[in-house]
Order: sequence, then structure tokens, then C-alpha cells
Amino acid sequence: MTAVLIASELRQLLPADPVPGHRVEWLAADEPTPSGSYAAILPLLSRRIGPAELDRLPDLQIVANCAVGYDNIDLEAAAERGVTVTNTPDVLTDATADLTWALILAVARRLKEGEALLAEDRWEGWHPRQLLGLELRDSTLGVVGAGRIGQAVAHRAVGFGMRILYADSEARPGLEGATGAERAELPDLLARSDVVTVHVPSSPQTRGMFGQEEFARMRPGALFVNTARGDLVNETALLDALDRGHLGGAGLDVFSEEPNVPEGLVRHPRVMALPHLGSATTRTREAMAALAARNVQAVLAGLAPLTPVAPR
Ligand code: DGY
Repeated sequence: MTAVLIASELRQLLPADPVPGHRVEWLAADEPTPSGSYAAILPLLSRRIGPAELDRLPDLQIVANCAVGYDNIDLEAAAERGVTVTNTPDVLTDATADLTWALILAVARRLKEGEALLAEDRWEGWHPRQLLGLELRDSTLGVVGAGRIGQAVAHRAVGFGMRILYADSEARPGLEGATGAERAELPDLLARSDVVTVHVPSSPQTRGMFGQEEFARMRPGALFVNTARGDLVNETALLDALDRGHLGGAGLDVFSEEPNVPEGLVRHPRVMALPHLGSATTRTREAMAALAARNVQAVLAGLAPLTPVAPR
């Protein structure tokens, strides 16, 4: 019976025998990736799987990442060793789009500052100019990356009466037809949007794509929201743009060095910061774990993976 490694944090989300016919060894997130004759690993997004880890697992057939993002995995190193890599697309699209909207609304309507007034006993009563925010109707939402999640975020913007711009390497006629979204180059989108929301994967091409220049291009008072990956953003430049008052606020679910989060961002009154909760609903997390396990079952049975991201 071959053995498979599964992140122990997923145990409660999976059936008792998640990969029938194979022995499971549970691996906690804070344990290093072991050496040995394992046929599969089902890791969390926090586990780096690079050449060193792959070399320690010479019998590995599949890395079934329990995330849609797979920037923690060296795809080339996996391909060189004939290891399949899979992710968990689709099942987390709605949860992540919903959380993105929770951040957009929280930042647009300054919920953190409002809550602090009450929690710190500083509220002196209703005032016509207190904590005025951004009215979403007739404002412009700039969606950077119009894949599954970016599109789901854009669809939700229709209900709020927003104009929609999107920047993507591909034209998305379906999205344009359904939402009236207009495709724009990134610099143009940044200059025309009241709210910019990021939905691109982290890769060598996208890392650090939001820096001083990009924030300077954004409209004075505009809002920045990131539920994709923290390393897309130069966090020092973001904090500077917020501190100078150029940006009106930021909603951040992801950070460059998770779980270490820059103090200046967390404490900033205009920043709503969350601990990577995008996909955190029971239904979605169960679906992610189940899909990752089904990918393992398929590959170990000699079948095609359901959701591959790299060649075998
Ligand atoms: C993913 O799946 O990549 C998400 O970041 C998890 O919430």
C-alpha cells in the first residue's frame, strides 16, 4: 500500500479515508516536508514545494495543492521530475469574490474607523460630515485580472451600479456582454478607477506589479483591494500612498510574508486587513479539500488529473 502525505489541518474537512487504498500520513503545516517513498502530497498553500522537497520524494506522482494559487510550487522542477501538479479552481470563486466585496464595502464606507469610534467610546452622536465614504453607484471598479474570480467580482459590481473596467491579457467578450465591462490597459485602468481590485496569480511576471508608480497613477482618494497574493504589491509603497493621503483606503486579505503582516498596514485606520480569509467558508473549504483529494485519487489510479496546472 503506497503512502500519501496530507496536510493535517485538512483532516476535519475530509472523509475518514480520503484516498481509499492508500495509507495517509498527516503532515502539520509547521513540520518540514519529510523524505520518503510517498506517492502524493496534498499540501496547504503555505508549504513550499521546490527542487529540494521534490528530491526528497523520489516516488512522488502528484502535488495536489489545496488552493487555486500554486505559487508555492516550482512547476518546472515538478515537470522535470514527471510530477503532476493540480490546484482547486472554481470551487472557491464565489467565496473569494464575496470576501472581495466585503472588503470593498468595508473600505468604501470606512467601517473600521466607525467601529473604532464606538469601541473606544469616542462617538459623540450623528454628524452630517462624519466618516463620509465613497458612494459606489456610478463609481468605477477596476478589475485587474479577469479570470474566474475577477469576473465573479465584476458580476457582483453590476448590482451596485458601478462602471467596470478590466485589465487582462485576454479580451473577455462574455464579461463585457454581461456586465458592460470595458477592457483597458493597466495604466489607464488605474487612472480611471475609484476602486482597484486585484485578481492575478503571483508569478515572476506579476510579483511587485503594484509599486510607487502604480499607486501614484491611481486617482486621489481611490481604494485598493487585494485578495489575490501579497507579493503582487510593494507594501512599503502602498503604506506610503496611504500615509500621504493619496489613496483613500485599502482592503487587504493577503500579505507578502504571511503570517507576518506589516504593523503599519494593520494599524492604519484606512486599511481593513484580514488573515487570508478569501475562501474561508465551510462549504468552500470542504470542496477545496475534496477536489484536491480527488486529484490524488485520479492520478494514483493512472487517470488524468481533474484540474492540472502543469504537464505530467
Ligand atoms: C487560494 O486558493 O489560492 C486562496 O488564496 C486560498 O484562499
